[in-house]
Amino acid sequence: MTAITMDALFEEAQKAASFAYAPYSRFRVGAALLGEDGTVYTGCNVENRSFGLTICAERSALVHGVGRGSRSFVALAVATPDSERPVGPCGACRQVLSEFMEPEAPVRFGGGGGEQVDTTIGILYPYDSLHDLSLGR
Ligand code: THU
Repeated sequence: MTAITMDALFEEAQKAASFAYAPYSRFRVGAALLGEDGTVYTGCNVENRSFGLTICAERSALVHGVGRGSRSFVALAVATPDSERPVGPCGACRQVLSEFMEPEAPVRFGGGGGEQVDTTIGILYPYDSLHDLSLGR
């Protein structure tokens, strides 16, 4: 299914977290999305002094991939090195990710303490009644 392992995808997310621009929260996040052809698209959170304009790492990775021509992603990893415990994608990102991922797609997230959570998009975003409206991909 996946061209690289979830371990390798998580390492890409960890690297991406090092690029985070998070001077306000001091909470770095990195995300790595695996495209159908095996390409990995990374992203980090990019904050703004107008706080509401901050973009999360997950959506940053997603727009990276879509902007490179990918329309479907088969796995996601998220790294939050500044938290001891794993931190999953926020609600807004779950909605946006579900536009381009199937419910069965694996998701791994982990913090700085070594613990990791393995789940799926469908578990993170259940009862996705609008999934069938995800047209154009
Ligand atoms: N953040 C993400 O990038 N992804 C998440 O799933 C949770 C939150 C960012 C937004 C903000 O820059 C910082 O983490 C603290 O909320």
